Amino acid sequence: MNQQTSDLKIFEQYFADHEKEIFDDYSTFLQFKSISTDKAYQDEVHSCADWLIKHIEDIGFETELWDTSGHPTIFAQNLNAGPDKPTLLIYNHYDVQPVDPLELWKTPPFEPTMVDGNVYARGAQDNKGQCMYVFQALKAMMHEHDSFPINIKWIIEGEEECGSEGLAGILENKKEPLAADYLVIADVGIAAVDKPSVTLGIRGIITMDVEVIGSNTDLHSGTHGGRAYNPLHALAEVVSKLRDCDGQVTVPGFYDDVDEFTDEERGQVDFAFDPDEYRDTFALEATGGELRYAPLERSTVRPTLEVNGLSGGYSGVGFKTVIPAVAQAKISCRLVPRQDPKNVGEKVARYIESLSPEGVTVKVDLHEGGGGALRASPDSDIIKAFAEGYSVVFGKPCGFTYEGGSIPIVTELARTCGGDVVLMGMALDSDQIHAPNEHFGWDRFQKGFLVFTQTLSILGKG
Ligand code: BES
Ligand code: MN
Repeated sequence: MNQQTSDLKIFEQYFADHEKEIFDDYSTFLQFKSISTDKAYQDEVHSCADWLIKHIEDIGFETELWDTSGHPTIFAQNLNAGPDKPTLLIYNHYDVQPVDPLELWKTPPFEPTMVDGNVYARGAQDNKGQCMYVFQALKAMMHEHDSFPINIKWIIEGEEECGSEGLAGILENKKEPLAADYLVIADVGIAAVDKPSVTLGIRGIITMDVEVIGSNTDLHSGTHGGRAYNPLHALAEVVSKLRDCDGQVTVPGFYDDVDEFTDEERGQVDFAFDPDEYRDTFALEATGGELRYAPLERSTVRPTLEVNGLSGGYSGVGFKTVIPAVAQAKISCRLVPRQDPKNVGEKVARYIESLSPEGVTVKVDLHEGGGGALRASPDSDIIKAFAEGYSVVFGKPCGFTYEGGSIPIVTELARTCGGDVVLMGMALDSDQIHAPNEHFGWDRFQKGFLVFTQTLSILGKG
């Protein structure tokens, strides 16, 4: 038996022996309602951080809770491997998305429930599940060897799901603690359940609120219909002008800094898309976005503009004949490398305002949180180490993939850390993150745990 297989056996056995206690920790972590975007949950966010930091301390880390203008960030380190060994900075987040619409959950979102090998709860995957297998991997390594094979730093933030504005504000002062040879972002996925893959890129994001203001009060749609410009109509007209019929974004200059994906880059990944599987899983055809690109290309390495919410007027039961005083939209753009979030945000905001029909006012509030796209080099040592870790655990070669989602702080964090980056995780597109019935496969939790123990051992051997 070679070293890799024997490491794998040790930690498979550890997982089997400790399965109940691992699940209990995970379950407790999931019960905190750490919804970062809603101030009503601030105390729960803090309790969650307190619980987690205590557990991290208990497995041999020095810890600090960093206050930010938003929610606190957990920082932990164990540098006992010494200066001859590399230092790995790990990134996770302990906050979660809101749970509405609550009535669509089959089990309560903060009462984790295992059904057919999947754990259902808000955060089950994004990102508490992935944070918890990292925790369990570190705990297991400490248990088996009383030390780590490399130096470890760990940052776990509490406001990823609302743009990381607070953390962004303190990074400048945290250069020294965050310095590391490598940075691993453990908040993404694999290409498919049987396709181990390391992620080479993630898109950036900007978000904004749009408000269309008409009259100073709601109006009777009989009395005023035909005279007043309805803000909901104005908003619908504005929104419909943001993309053409081929799915291209029409904002002037939107694509200025967008590089075409090169053939070399295309050769590294599998952009094969199975329309039948997509239809089976989501009851949907892939007809959205820039139609001249392949579905997976346009949802991972091309920029987008999407409306995430439209509201105004009456949408309760029955009917109300009203011309609302105001209408609102929430809009986000996904960005690719070289697109500057602020710059693109300004272009979109000014264009939207310029489309305002006469008689109403369109205002755009660009949000502060957000960040640029991140790309990792497939040739770096850290990517090679994780790819090897995946391939040992899955028993097959590891490929590469790209992620269309965003983690706002990653570009700034990578700059602060100064090391090479790898994006890893065990997510699948079908985990229903951010939606009702979010879930994570217990088998993938275990595989994530094993990829971590395996890769850390590999890094320790140099
Ligand atoms: N973990 C996700 C990013 C992600 C999405 C990874 C899909 C893999 C698949 C992250 O927590 C996330 O949801 N980010 C938000 C950021 C936003 C709220 C500022 C996103 O991408 O929408
Ligand atoms: Mn998320």
